[in-house]
Amino acid sequence: MTTTQEFEAIVAAARTAFASASTPADLENAKAQYVGKSGRITELMKGLATLSVEEKKSRGAAINQAKQAIEAALTERRQALADAELAAQLRAEALDVSLPGRIREPGGLHPVSLTLERIEQIFASMGFDVADGPEIESDWHSFTSLNNPPNHPARSMQDTFYVDIDGDDGIPYNLRPHTSPMQVRYAHQHIKRYADAVKRGEPMPEIRVIAPGRTYRVDSDATHSPMFHQCEGLWLGENVSFKDLKVVFTDFCRTFFESDDLALRFRPSFFPFTEPSAEIDIQFQSGPLAGRWLEVAGSGQVHPAVVRNMGLDPEKHIGFAFGMGPDRLTMLRYGVSDLRLFFDGDIRFLRQFR
Ligand code: PHE
Repeated sequence: MTTTQEFEAIVAAARTAFASASTPADLENAKAQYVGKSGRITELMKGLATLSVEEKKSRGAAINQAKQAIEAALTERRQALADAELAAQLRAEALDVSLPGRIREPGGLHPVSLTLERIEQIFASMGFDVADGPEIESDWHSFTSLNNPPNHPARSMQDTFYVDIDGDDGIPYNLRPHTSPMQVRYAHQHIKRYADAVKRGEPMPEIRVIAPGRTYRVDSDATHSPMFHQCEGLWLGENVSFKDLKVVFTDFCRTFFESDDLALRFRPSFFPFTEPSAEIDIQFQSGPLAGRWLEVAGSGQVHPAVVRNMGLDPEKHIGFAFGMGPDRLTMLRYGVSDLRLFFDGDIRFLRQFR
């Protein structure tokens, strides 16, 4: 018959077995040997069946005590293993909160973007719409619609990049050399509005729009980049004249440069899509560029052939167009001497405009 000492020995052996279990699975195996279905304690319980009531009482109590002691040891060891596991995980995933963070510098708009925003704001305040169009353009839109047919010598003014896709006319698409195709595109986009107005006998709606964007030419030096920006302007109405062009453009330049100390010169020129045509030069009266004439735009009265290509009547839609260079305006505004700085992506240069 097992004695009290022997019960204590079983409890002690269980404690030792639990202590040497280093994983929860080991621990459950050790547990089975004592309180499992055929464990030591369970076997002892079974043995009670043959005893007298008196013996059952005293011996049963002793077995129960041993069982409780083993279960307490088991619970304790389970908790210890869980604590150790958590501690190991915390150690593995430790975060050194004393490391300095990665500094995120506030970004800023590119100087040319700042100029484009400024141009849009100023022209919007004069009632101009702002339009956007494709940089990969058909030959018809880039040239033919602008009164510049294939083989016309004026095309050589705008040496272009061609793309490996043929248009409907069999002539390859090009990277647009100017924003002028937007004149015809914009008119076509709104043609229904004009037709409806005519149908209802209403006055013809004006076209008053600017179209800023990227343009491409085979050119590269301090003042020319193969990719550059232009902003087209177009104002057509019943009777919009060259005088209006002068007023609008002068107003624009004075607002843009925040200076009335500025002279404008309209120098006769040639474009197939305007007649008469003029280059617009500006002259600062003071500051580092004082006295020099600087070309900022091409312009002119829109040619009737172009108005017809818009699907409109050149007797009813009369007015001017201009195409200016926002890159050049940015150079003048900030005193930058080399255009290529804008497109090199040197953070030290760009940071100055933040
Ligand atoms: N598209 C012309 C150029 O790129 C500029 C221009 C626009 C001239 C509109 C007249 C009217 O040189």
